[in-house]
Amino acid sequence: MRVPITGATRLAAVIGSPVRHSLSPALHNAAFEAGGLDWRFVALEVAPGGGADAVAAMRTLGIGGFAVTMPHKSDVAAAIDEIDPAAAALDSVNTVVLRNDGSTFGASTDGAGFVDWVEACGVEVVGRRVVVLGAGGAGRAIVDSLGRAGAGDIAIVNRTDAAAVAAASLAEAARVGSLDDLGAADLLVNATSVGMGSDDSPVDRRFLRPDLTVADIVYHPRETRLQREDADAGAATIDGLGMLVHQAVRQQQLWTGIRPDPAVLRTAAERELAARS
Ligand code: ATR
Repeated sequence: MRVPITGATRLAAVIGSPVRHSLSPALHNAAFEAGGLDWRFVALEVAPGGGADAVAAMRTLGIGGFAVTMPHKSDVAAAIDEIDPAAAALDSVNTVVLRNDGSTFGASTDGAGFVDWVEACGVEVVGRRVVVLGAGGAGRAIVDSLGRAGAGDIAIVNRTDAAAVAAASLAEAARVGSLDDLGAADLLVNATSVGMGSDDSPVDRRFLRPDLTVADIVYHPRETRLQREDADAGAATIDGLGMLVHQAVRQQQLWTGIRPDPAVLRTAAERELAARS
């Protein structure tokens, strides 16, 4: 049920640049509506360098929650009152809550959302050997959260020394790895952008086998070449849309105190992506 907009309606927003392509309004508004919550969600274009001003404006305007995307995640981490351990480790905030006392709290929900999704797919993380391809924003968040969730070994593979920086500063179980680590791995995570909008795969199919689960964070196309080839090899695959959905579930719970139904967000994301294709 969509609650009518009144003087009591709360506002949440994603700040970023560029932000007009964001799926967040579709996901969050669908969940607000399904839950009968008196909230609305919009996208606000905030120019690079404007993250701290946006947090100040949030306080002035009483905006209940921010989702934060590129290029503001680090600036916002420095501009708020308190941040959660993942956000502190990553120096990156993707969620801001304006508390009733006017103070701000920031979190990083990307990595935790990824782990939520993997576990929702029936894949255990505790004690598992994981290879993470990529050490950018998403890869770092995933490594951090896999460590917090108890992964036994996290081999980070990247074409630059970003892998070494991530291994040294994030999870204790993390180390620099290579594709050779795939031989003993339980889970392969593609956290690079390889395969986004293309039919490329970051891994040759000869590395894929039935007992290697693949999680790809890419969700455009909906089934990537990596997922397709892993399914052909007889393995379980985990798609990228679930990470987007589950990190948004955590955001909304932080803003409203109520955990929305992930299925509602997923349906909204699928509908929005289908409308764009
Ligand atoms: P995001 O926030 O989505 O993680 P990002 O921070 O730009 O985006 O990170 C993209 C990741 O994909 C990086 O690990 C990047 O590797 P580099 O650090 O070496 O740039 C990786 N990546 C992008 N294109 C790649 C390619 N063609 N081959 C291998 N890795 C690639």
